[in-house]
Amino acid sequence: MAESMNGLKRTYRCTELSKANIGEIVTVMGWVQKRRNLGSLLFIDLRDRSGILQLVLDSNDVGEEGFAKAETLRSEFVIAVVGRVEARSGAVNESMETGEIEIRVTQLRILSEAQTPPFPIEEDSQTKEEIRLKYRYLDLRRPDLQKNIKMRSQIATLTRTFLADEGFLEIETPTLCKSTPEGARDYLVPSRVHPGNFYALPQSPQLFKQLLMCAGYDRYFQLARCYRDEDLRADRQPEFTQIDMELSFVDVDDVIDVNERLLATLFKKVLNVEIPLPIPRMTWKEAMERFGSDKPDIRFGMELKDISDLVKSCGFGVFTSALDNGGAVRGINANGQGNMPRKKIDALVEFAKGYGVKGLAYLSINEDGTYKSSFAKFMTEDELTAIVERLEGKPGDLLLFAADKSNIVYSVLGALRLEIARQLDLLKKDEYQFLWIVEFPLLEYSEEENRYVAMHHPFTMPMDEDISLLDTDPGKVRAKAYDITLNGTEIGGGSVRIYQSDIQEKMFEVLGFSKESAHKRFGFLLDAFQYGVPPHAGLAYGLDRLVMLMAKEDNIRDVIAFPKVKDASCLMSEAPNVVDEKQLVELKIEIAEE
Ligand code: AMO
Ligand code: AMP
Repeated sequence: MAESMNGLKRTYRCTELSKANIGEIVTVMGWVQKRRNLGSLLFIDLRDRSGILQLVLDSNDVGEEGFAKAETLRSEFVIAVVGRVEARSGAVNESMETGEIEIRVTQLRILSEAQTPPFPIEEDSQTKEEIRLKYRYLDLRRPDLQKNIKMRSQIATLTRTFLADEGFLEIETPTLCKSTPEGARDYLVPSRVHPGNFYALPQSPQLFKQLLMCAGYDRYFQLARCYRDEDLRADRQPEFTQIDMELSFVDVDDVIDVNERLLATLFKKVLNVEIPLPIPRMTWKEAMERFGSDKPDIRFGMELKDISDLVKSCGFGVFTSALDNGGAVRGINANGQGNMPRKKIDALVEFAKGYGVKGLAYLSINEDGTYKSSFAKFMTEDELTAIVERLEGKPGDLLLFAADKSNIVYSVLGALRLEIARQLDLLKKDEYQFLWIVEFPLLEYSEEENRYVAMHHPFTMPMDEDISLLDTDPGKVRAKAYDITLNGTEIGGGSVRIYQSDIQEKMFEVLGFSKESAHKRFGFLLDAFQYGVPPHAGLAYGLDRLVMLMAKEDNIRDVIAFPKVKDASCLMSEAPNVVDEKQLVELKIEIAEE
């Protein structure tokens, strides 16, 4: 039976107590982690969000009735106790924050009883994630999730303080917006007042933050909810949070500077990790050439090497035909993996095929300097020597090669070097390697849409020296865009924005928008630019991704209180779901037959 607090006031959280409090009468409240009966004594581990505290009950202190009540306690009952802090009567528990003390209870109240939970509330749960997500409110009681959620809160608070101190204003922007397709698919919300019309949930506050710059607010930030209807992965959720910011009268270096100091502050205060500043920068081109990725993990080497020039007239048809079709041949050196069993190499080939290549060629260098290879027989001795030299191959190394269209080769080898690093356990979670990627291409060609699309978004400024290329060779134009990456994850990205209407119009032209269609989509921004617009630039972090890496988790679900699963549903609340017929009628929505 549930009792009331009836005037009792909690005086401490469990782990706020220590030896310093010995002798004090305190009131603590929380959940029963476990109960142990030792004859006339009863021990309870009490848990709250701070941790665990041992309670001792003796009928001499709580009375017969209190003791009998305590004997009914089971895991997850919520209780309040009053008692005296004492040094542990038994052995000190070194592994426990409050291991030197216990509370000798004089009063016990059961505030709430509990059914046996579907899984134990403990660290490193072995329970299937689906079950834990269905009972997320119980899962959230576990210490590992509590640690993550608390770290997230700390990061948010530090971010707010840091940016406010730097002169940023926190301003909210709408989440019922106009759909401005470009980028991911929108989540739509039907309007009741305007039947047949829809709001879109924002994919980011991009246009609004630019308008805030037009409005003169100078430095803005927001912890913004964003929504993107895209395929979920370990580092993607349909709704996620950005640390979003925009600054006026700045260029690339200013944005990078304030953000490096923000990151250094967060890592120092949350993890006590020093990030050496400045964070290194790498151009997009160099990142692709050396790592096959625009978010390279630079905690390890295994860099890509182009051997196209060495094999253009060799006897291996796989290589020459790729080159004849305008492609490339590149390789990586898996140092010391020359003895990798055939089966494992075959598995790597299968892995590579998943990235669009038809196969992988390999060459392992035996200790005596001879080769074992899938293609050596098609090569001259000189060609082989040159290839091995290019990859800095030594006895005991395994060289892997892919031949295809250049972008496929990049993505195959970029993924392969990560996969091998994973298998060799080279990815240390307590090593933090930040890298700015700069000078992104402004545009990329979409085969699907048969036109150029913006690589970042249509408001991104071309690099000054490339503006003239917009007319002649748009594919070559580099942008004032930058991503901040950490250990191979893109944690943030941004750009300097176009603020001149002639460049913006040119940009829309290259993207294939007519003046009318550009105006239809972004008219309010273009109009605003007619009334005095400062040069401006910004950046947004994926807060969830940042917390995931700082908490050393592999999945952003583990740092979000109520996340969604792969099919974008919530296993606990069962969203999305059908709605009442009445709601549909009001919205004038009919569900089409499948
Ligand atoms: P962008 O689209 O690169 O830029 O997004 C910024 C950052 O948001 C994170 N992110 C996500 N996190 C979790 N789940 C997702 N589905 C998801 N999608 C993106 C990433 C990414 O780096 N308005 C621009 C920023 C700007 O130009 O200022 C923008 O949204 O960490
Ligand atoms: P095939 O001509 O398909 O029998 O392949 C001959 C060898 O080349 C095999 O070792 C394949 O694994 C390898 N190979 C096939 N396609 C590629 C490719 N695109 N890049 C590198 N090696 C390949």
